[in-house]
Amino acid sequence: MNIKISASMLGAELSELGSEAVRAKESGSDWIHFDVMDGKFVDNISFGASVQQAISRKGDFFFDTHLMVSRPDQQLGYFIKSGSKMITFHIESESDADHTINVIHRAGLMAGIAIKPTTPAESVFPFLEKLDMVLVMTVEPGYGGQGFLNYTLPKIKKIRERADEVRPSLMIEVDGGINADTAPLVIEAGADVLVSGTYLFGASDMKKAIQALKA
Ligand code: DX5
Ligand code: ZN
Repeated sequence: MNIKISASMLGAELSELGSEAVRAKESGSDWIHFDVMDGKFVDNISFGASVQQAISRKGDFFFDTHLMVSRPDQQLGYFIKSGSKMITFHIESESDADHTINVIHRAGLMAGIAIKPTTPAESVFPFLEKLDMVLVMTVEPGYGGQGFLNYTLPKIKKIRERADEVRPSLMIEVDGGINADTAPLVIEAGADVLVSGTYLFGASDMKKAIQALKA
């Protein structure tokens, strides 16, 4: 299986985002995970499209943008312009999911839906056929550095099984508490893309850490 790694900029040295993204890419990270928090959908505020745009000036990155915002529809235009390749929004947000997916696709980008740890798998089933990815949160959204929630594993499996029937190309991304111990569990459950912040940026050798996640 071809596992992809998406390095979460939330775990990077925040005063050095450009060079941290370069370091992640050169260490073998396939994607750059960009966490957008609005202080409303989640309590925390992180960074917005202008910061992603600034990072994009430092290299050619696959920006995997994770919108933890109440109104993702209002953010799409900014992120389409600032280099996102994949835009993922939450099913628990206030925007119409079908419409949001259509706008992302019309711009030529890939579209994903994210679900919080306690949101049931079934909530994404109506959209699977038109989605490129489902992001299963394996911690409560809002902060990096939290512990992996084991109870999310059966949900990953459930989505994989349903996707195999109706959308075999669907990618499943997991986000939160991913390290060398939890990676085998999520891969076994059916994850294709592993987001990792604290573990990767805190590693003494990021290249080795990425290889350990993929192994
Ligand atoms: C949490 C974010 C995650 C987070 C992952 O709300 O969506 O992307 O940065 O960080 P770690 O790997 O530290 O759990
Ligand atoms: Zn994220």
